[in-house]
Amino acid sequence: MKALILSGGKGTRLRPITYTGAKQLVPVMNKPILWYGIENVVAAGITEIGIVISPETGDEIKVRTGDGSRFGARITYILQDSPSGLAHAVKVARPFLQDSPFVMYLGDNLIQDSLDLFVYSFESECLDASILLKRVADPRAFGVAKLAADGRVLELVEKPQVPPSDLALVGVYLFSPAIHAAIDRIQPSPRGELEITDAIQRLISDGKVVKASELAGWWLDTGKKDDLLEANRILLDTCLQTTTLKVEGRDSQISGRVQIGSGTTIIKSVIRGPVVIGRNCHIENCFIGPYSSISDAVTLIETEIDHSVILGGARIESISHRIVDSVIGQRAHLKTTPQRPKALRFLVSDDSQIELV
Ligand code: G1P
Repeated sequence: MKALILSGGKGTRLRPITYTGAKQLVPVMNKPILWYGIENVVAAGITEIGIVISPETGDEIKVRTGDGSRFGARITYILQDSPSGLAHAVKVARPFLQDSPFVMYLGDNLIQDSLDLFVYSFESECLDASILLKRVADPRAFGVAKLAADGRVLELVEKPQVPPSDLALVGVYLFSPAIHAAIDRIQPSPRGELEITDAIQRLISDGKVVKASELAGWWLDTGKKDDLLEANRILLDTCLQTTTLKVEGRDSQISGRVQIGSGTTIIKSVIRGPVVIGRNCHIENCFIGPYSSISDAVTLIETEIDHSVILGGARIESISHRIVDSVIGQRAHLKTTPQRPKALRFLVSDDSQIELV
């Protein structure tokens, strides 16, 4: 079995952060979202991985992610010239996939479940497609499945105005090579894309064996700022382990699960986990509260942060009010005078500078 991880797209819903970088490389708990997908695939024993990239962000993804050796895998990069849909990406990847069965994984999706059981049932039951579902409050933003009482998939619709159920299609699918003929027979959707949902619907209409399973664990589609923060919170809650790295923490209180990278200095600060802090950061006179992820080379001085994601190289100084629910882009520089506004809530682009004076 091979894996096809989709890492193209424009990331419009995560702008401005994605003006200067791929959405799949935005870190959650200080690790690019895409890498969680790669690790999940490799943990299921699949090491032949194709990553579909776009002309805009492909080079950055290649440079950061490499040839796969760091994951114990072999990665082939496949260029999709235009964002013409998930089924179009499969078409473009055909020379890589050949006639192999494959797991298709959307690079901005995070799932808690391991893939082992799904791969096992796909192979042992000789399925043509296996889809994963999760109940959501508002299914209109997703593909939605209608199931029969015995669990058979009756119908799949992409982003319906009137959803037939609350079962959303998770961005992880398993396919036999039968999917290629189905893709050849679909037309672009109203949004102008070749939808994988329509191709699976075609398999169903043709009487192929399509099985749906509900995910047991959490599923996070990290497309928007609040989803990203929620992903960060859940990962810190469930996956963070403390490291035993020796930290230079002068006059500081560090409690709870806190992971701190090498070369980071912490002076006169309070850190309450779960918190992850990268390498070569400088933190002085700060409070860093739960569910914060601070990337490498970040400087925080006289600042309070809670439930936020701070990207690499950012510098935040003398913000006397607590920064909450915020995503701060790479190398952003925030600075205020000591007058205190009530609250500050940011979604700031890379290289931004904000001064509240
Ligand atoms: C895509 C699929 C949709 C699925 C979703 C999961 O949507 O088309 O069926 O539910 O991923 O993340 P898109 O991200 O292209 O809007």
